[in-house]
Amino acid sequence: MQDHSDYTVSIHYDRRLYRQDIAGSKAHADMLATQGIIPREDADAIISGLSAVQEEIEQGEFPWDPALEDLHMNIERRLTDLIGPAGARLHTGRSRNDQIALDMRLYTRAAVGDTVAGLRSVQRALVGLAEQYINVVMPGYTHLQRAQPVLFAHHMLAYFEMLERDVGRFADCAGRMDVLPLGSGALAGVPYPTDRNAVASVLEFSEISPNSMDAVADRDFLAEFHSAAAIAMMHVSRLSEEIVIWSSREFDFVRLADEFTTGSSIMPQKRNPDFAEIARGKTGRVYGSLMGILTVLKGLPLTYNRDLQEDKEGFFDTVDTLLSTLSVFADMLPGMKLNTDRVEFLAGESYMLATDLADYLVGKGVPFRDAHGVMRRLCQHCEAGGLSLSDLPIDEYRRFAPQFDDDVYAITAAASVAARDNPGGTAPNRVAEGLARAKNILATAGAQ
Ligand code: ARG
Repeated sequence: MQDHSDYTVSIHYDRRLYRQDIAGSKAHADMLATQGIIPREDADAIISGLSAVQEEIEQGEFPWDPALEDLHMNIERRLTDLIGPAGARLHTGRSRNDQIALDMRLYTRAAVGDTVAGLRSVQRALVGLAEQYINVVMPGYTHLQRAQPVLFAHHMLAYFEMLERDVGRFADCAGRMDVLPLGSGALAGVPYPTDRNAVASVLEFSEISPNSMDAVADRDFLAEFHSAAAIAMMHVSRLSEEIVIWSSREFDFVRLADEFTTGSSIMPQKRNPDFAEIARGKTGRVYGSLMGILTVLKGLPLTYNRDLQEDKEGFFDTVDTLLSTLSVFADMLPGMKLNTDRVEFLAGESYMLATDLADYLVGKGVPFRDAHGVMRRLCQHCEAGGLSLSDLPIDEYRRFAPQFDDDVYAITAAASVAARDNPGGTAPNRVAEGLARAKNILATAGAQ
């Protein structure tokens, strides 16, 4: 028979939790001594021994041993080797079940902090683009058909708002998981006079978990992180898709900096938007890990089951994928050049103004539904004759509706955009409000 002992081993990935594990152990040992559960000298030896262990890990000198299966056993064994029998007192009043629940919460909390910082830097890049091209009008799309002119800045700020909600989702996730699970023991609590609140305050948790069985069994904070990550990646993926489309020769709206495009090995003219494409692709694996954690959890009876060990690799992968993607976008967006001549030319194309012409007729007393019908017929007429609306003589206009007058020629893309002057609209002053709102959010976040 083959040797299967490595099947249960997690040390090659859970070693990533060493800082959290050691911080938790130090707080636990200190509390045990304060409560008179272990001698103070032993706690002191444990705490300095754990610092030595951390040093070894960081210097790459720690003797990781797969035979000890996981991070917890590796650290405890090494501690005992270093400081002697006192090390064996560390695990008093604790189980690996509440220990790993603590480590994962601490790690997730740090990951939320990094993620929010990453989202903020992408938001800053979006605001930078909005400011750089503040008055540029471009075609806005529905069904990927040119629909109405909008400001490019409005388009960029739409993504700012999506990422703002992502920040909120990660903050919610951090808020709900802000409870200390340590002190729950294996599942039922511990028979020692521990002080859980003291440990919570050292480790900067607002509260202690109210139910020991829930605390060791629960990983819903991970499912929340995964789902917030999946949604954030979905947003970045939509932006990626737009960048891919916009940088095609057909659209020719943007040009990415050379560092963020790749040539083809055989077609010298190519400037492939590989970073945007890979971000779009990586979104798939982040969704996969969300399904993974939900599926691991769905059939588990209370409380701890070893299946829970499978919570880690997908999670670490999601954290790495999300953070690297945000970092790429924060650096790629500022170098994206907008082809302002082209987008403004297309935004001025007369069919884009059909809705504005219908609104013009409404202004002259025509009911909107009728005005819409007039414009549909007019557009069909122009299309059939290969004409542009702006070149159509006024007599021709009047054949479709007598209300048309010479002022119809004053309707331009700039006028169309300026007319959308209600809150949230694309008029320059409204977009300026959106930009001010965005900058204010970033300034407040930066000051925190
Ligand atoms: N490696 C385990 C995990 O990640 C740690 C907890 C093990 N507990 C146990 N009773 N075997 O979940």
